[in-house]
Amino acid sequence: MKITTKINLITTAWIICVLVVVNIVVFYSFMNVTVNVEKKIVLQNADAILEDINNGDSNEVIKEKLLKYLTNGSFIRIIDHKSKIIHQVTNNKQIANKIKGKFVTQTKSKRYLIRSAQGEEQILVVRIPIESNGQVIETLEIGARLVGLELGKDVLLSILIGCTVFGAIISLLGGKWLANILIHPVSNMIDTMEEIEQSGVTKRMVVDGQPKDELQKMAVTFNRMLDRLDDNIERQQQFLSDASHELKTPITVIKSYIDFLRRHGIQNEAVALDAIEVIYSEATRIQVMTEKFLDLANTELENMVEKTTIDLVTLSESIVKQLHSAYKREITLHYDERPILAVADELKLKQVIIILLDNAIKYSKDRIDLYLENRENDTVIRVKDYGIGIPAHEMENIFERFYRIDKARSRETGGTGLGLAIAKNIMKQHDGEIKVESTEGEGTEVALFLPK
Ligand SMILES: Nc1ncnc2c1ncn2[C@@H]1O[C@H](COP(=O)(O)OP(=O)(O)OP(=O)(O)O)[C@@H](O)[C@H]1O
Ligand SMILES: [Mg+2]
Repeated sequence: MKITTKINLITTAWIICVLVVVNIVVFYSFMNVTVNVEKKIVLQNADAILEDINNGDSNEVIKEKLLKYLTNGSFIRIIDHKSKIIHQVTNNKQIANKIKGKFVTQTKSKRYLIRSAQGEEQILVVRIPIESNGQVIETLEIGARLVGLELGKDVLLSILIGCTVFGAIISLLGGKWLANILIHPVSNMIDTMEEIEQSGVTKRMVVDGQPKDELQKMAVTFNRMLDRLDDNIERQQQFLSDASHELKTPITVIKSYIDFLRRHGIQNEAVALDAIEVIYSEATRIQVMTEKFLDLANTELENMVEKTTIDLVTLSESIVKQLHSAYKREITLHYDERPILAVADELKLKQVIIILLDNAIKYSKDRIDLYLENRENDTVIRVKDYGIGIPAHEMENIFERFYRIDKARSRETGGTGLGLAIAKNIMKQHDGEIKVESTEGEGTEVALFLPK
């Protein structure tokens, strides 16, 4: 079933329920009010009768007096304490016969429904005790047809049923129209999605101004999701083309040297060894590069971290020791306390520190300082070198993938331009930050901020 039809049917059913309840309340209130008004009139009549009749009146006089108060379709009786009728005047014998007399000691009223040849008749019977010397001796009983109620009830009933049917029809028609208005953005969205599915082009939904309701917010979210998807696809394509471009150079070099060896053979041992050396170094370059591609892909996913509490001092000591023995460079570790604890993915954090130290080693010749600090809101790791530095206008580019300031120089130092991009991703995975400060010719300081 279409959602518009569903909304329409549900609202109509609800409106009918509300109307039925309201109509029942209106109907019974009307009945109550009408009966109460009639009852008041009958009671006034009764008071007048009781005042009119005297103790010594003969049967004929009493009957005559009672006749004066007889209204259309009613009866007036006086009943003794055994519920026997003593006096009765009526202009509707049928009702008078059907309703039995009753002795009461307290004023009471009762509504009777009588089926006669003319149809249903509503009768109100009021019974009032007649007292003499403080004792109830007889009962005055007045029965009157509720003509107003009989007529009004049927008219009211047909009006109420008519209104309910009319309300249901209006609700059905209006509901369809309203549901269409409400569902319009959703249908729009479905159309857009179908178009995207068929054409493969990520179209956006049109939202005018600030989103006002949930559906408009949904459209904005949908657009944002598409933006992200587009962004991801673009980044992937960019990465693919960058990566293949980067791989092309070493592969071309390897191919040309192999080709050389194929054509000239390996008679000239020195030349052949040179060629093999180049092939080996380029193959190593490809190997390093593909490892970095994997690292980059690994750090691109935001939730791929296994955090534990680690001591930065111990971790840094082992890194410094490892790099010192590999590169024979002086790296000084500075810290005020130990342990300095941080919650992080140990392997990834180690990778970031190595990326920074590797840059410092590559782009400086002097000593290198590694600072560990425990600040109020975060733990900070700083790598400071006194090397060539980074030109101010290059600062924003160095985190781009494959970006190297001086390609020739980086090539010489074996860089792929992925180190800082990987480092930035890892810091993002830790909700942390990476900041660089550098002066060309003086040195560079890279700081990692790990939130507590
Ligand atoms: N400490 C530094 N001093 C001077 N320049 C730096 C420093 N760190 C980074 N750079 C510059 O920023 C560029 C990007 O650094 P990044 O670490 O991303 O790549 P890379 O070192 O060239 O290659 P990779 O790290 O992938 O082996 C480098 O090529 C270099 O020019
Ligand atoms: Mg690097």
